[in-house]
Amino acid sequence: MEKKIPEFEVLPRHIGFIMDGNGRWAKMRGLERSAGHVEGAKAFRKIGEYCADLGIEYVTFYAFSTENWNRPKKEVLSLMKLFKEYLREGDGRLAENEVRQMKLRFIGEREGLPSDLLKLIERAEKETAKYSKITVNIALNYGGRAELKSAVKSIAQKVKDGELSIDDITEQTISDNIYTAGQPDPDIIVRPSGEYRLSNFLTWQSAYSEFWFSDILWPDFTEEHVNEILYDFQNRNRRFGGV
Ligand code: IPE
Ligand code: IPE
Ligand code: MG
Repeated sequence: MEKKIPEFEVLPRHIGFIMDGNGRWAKMRGLERSAGHVEGAKAFRKIGEYCADLGIEYVTFYAFSTENWNRPKKEVLSLMKLFKEYLREGDGRLAENEVRQMKLRFIGEREGLPSDLLKLIERAEKETAKYSKITVNIALNYGGRAELKSAVKSIAQKVKDGELSIDDITEQTISDNIYTAGQPDPDIIVRPSGEYRLSNFLTWQSAYSEFWFSDILWPDFTEEHVNEILYDFQNRNRRFGGV
């Protein structure tokens, strides 16, 4: 059945989703945590595609944080397997990306990721680089502090190499040296699962983001919830320090 897309007066250009609550979703059903991640991955596909249909330009999904390595090895492995499965959907996935003109970008530390996953990431980025209707950032092995640390290092290197002078370092220099360089900051960040924190997500980029919290667990997230967020966003009064 074709879904009716509502009309919105103002659309955010960039939405961030913290995909949280998979483990609790599984626990409530007496299932393994990994079963929650499988359902969470389905919600990720559905919501990403819906954002594309809505005409949103940038969406960032938090899939795995630099702190998530602290989880039991079995769970980490099941997550890595899911990421690979998503990227290996092969022709079907590519066709889907083409229909929606979806560019896939991975933000986060590449170091530490399994080499077979890295290859799939590079392939997906290369094959979707030509699309520009929507950019889907997948934050994988991502930490806002790690991102800022990397930015500081690359800026320091440029100063050391004489390419940049200290007086020329501006806020824009920092924005240009993080993973989301060239993209608008997230207008709204969504965190389901009843937690009220960012957990190291988009630390620099979230300075003026709106927030939307809810008790829904990520695997239960639907297009209707996205509509709720967008109706809510239309009524936010963003002042950016002005009056
Ligand atoms: C989010 O769900 C997925 C990842 C962090 C990878 P969780 O696994 O954190 O689910 P809860 O918070 O334990 O319910
Ligand atoms: C945040 O969820 C990271 C992702 C959704 C990938 P966590 O479940 O890891 O966050 P905390 O530990 O509750 O802060
Ligand atoms: Mg969690």
